[in-house]
Amino acid sequence: MVEVLVTGGAGFIGSNFVRFALSLHDDWRVTTLDKLTYAGRLENLHDVMDHPRHTFVRGDIADAAISGPLVERANVVVHFAAETHVDRSIREAGAFIRTDVEGTFVLLEAARKAPELRRFIQISTDEVYGSVASGASVETDELRPRNPYSASKAGADRLAYSYWATYGVPVVITRASNNYGPYQFPEKVIPLFITNAVDDIPVPLYGDGLNIRDWLHVLDHCRAVDLLIANGRDGEVYNVGGGNELTNLELTHLILDTLGKPRALIRPVADRQGHDRRYSLDTGKLRGLGWAPQVAFSDGLREAVAWYRDNPWWWRPIKEQDAAFKAYYQSQYGGQVQPS
Ligand code: NAD
Ligand code: DAU
Repeated sequence: MVEVLVTGGAGFIGSNFVRFALSLHDDWRVTTLDKLTYAGRLENLHDVMDHPRHTFVRGDIADAAISGPLVERANVVVHFAAETHVDRSIREAGAFIRTDVEGTFVLLEAARKAPELRRFIQISTDEVYGSVASGASVETDELRPRNPYSASKAGADRLAYSYWATYGVPVVITRASNNYGPYQFPEKVIPLFITNAVDDIPVPLYGDGLNIRDWLHVLDHCRAVDLLIANGRDGEVYNVGGGNELTNLELTHLILDTLGKPRALIRPVADRQGHDRRYSLDTGKLRGLGWAPQVAFSDGLREAVAWYRDNPWWWRPIKEQDAAFKAYYQSQYGGQVQPS
């Protein structure tokens, strides 16, 4: 059996990856290590919690007493765990440094001592390149992160690289664009806008709405990680992008149109501080290994809209009963766009 440790497996991408990996690989035993922060939810793993090849461990990656032994017995580590929301990092960056940088350091230290470790996938992000005025980022471009989240991810990205260059830890680094799909916490733009619009609550569009993001279906990201576990080259970075660049305004129109909701629900609000204008990835290196996105954005977005519309059991408790989320929403958006 292949022992696979997935950190952050109760979050959005991690939970999709755990489900994907268990169904694809009969010979994988998957351990999820997750602290269950506000973004980590056992509901995301509801259908695999009792799976005979899946074990869930609640714990902090930065706690070496918990994470160390799990890393040391792994054949493969897929490290998703992180604080991930840019807006929260702008308000308070401490947790980002502790988890994204220090937590990654703790895992890498354990990886140095893991006798059977074949692969350590460091899940980085396209945000480490900073805002891209024109053209597309290639893996050798200079890193110019511009917000506390992306700076902490850039620190982790280069720290992981250094553990390959210095100690030979079999690190492979992915830099993915904006993921979308089921189980994404409703602070992120797509689930936030869908779930607001379902309830006829205005959707808060930052600034002029013309910032550009490239959208990648979460399962296409999972397929890329799976390929890189098998065929990635140690010490290398791979961009993972969907090739679907849209302004936020275009994206918002698509969401509202899909739901049959009026564009009058769009509420322009104050811009994000230091808001990166555009991300764009050249994915030629990963395509050279045989990967290509399989989900057309028009299909993926329609399915995502339907998933949130049809699974209010998943998001209503967060938006309507979770006091911490309500407090965050209130202080982020003020009285401009009220949930019910
Ligand atoms: P998420 O916020 O949905 O999930 C993060 C998970 O990590 C949660 O389950 C949380 O409980 C867990 N976690 C946080 N701190 C922890 C700690 N100290 N110890 C153990 N677990 C902890 O995030 P996501 O969107 O699924 O992102 C996963 C990874 O992918 C992150 O590393 C992120 O930087 C990267 N990434 C995300 C995107 C995207 O669009 N969502 C794109 C590129 C890269
Ligand atoms: O690019 C990869 C990154 O994508 C990941 O590394 C991050 O973890 C992930 O959170 C995501 O970051 P973004 O900041 O791009 O995602 P978010 O959904 O927060 O915002 C997407 C765009 O939508 C961005 O330009 C800001 C805008 N936005 C966002 C929110 C939450 C709005 O206009 N209004 C909003 O309320």
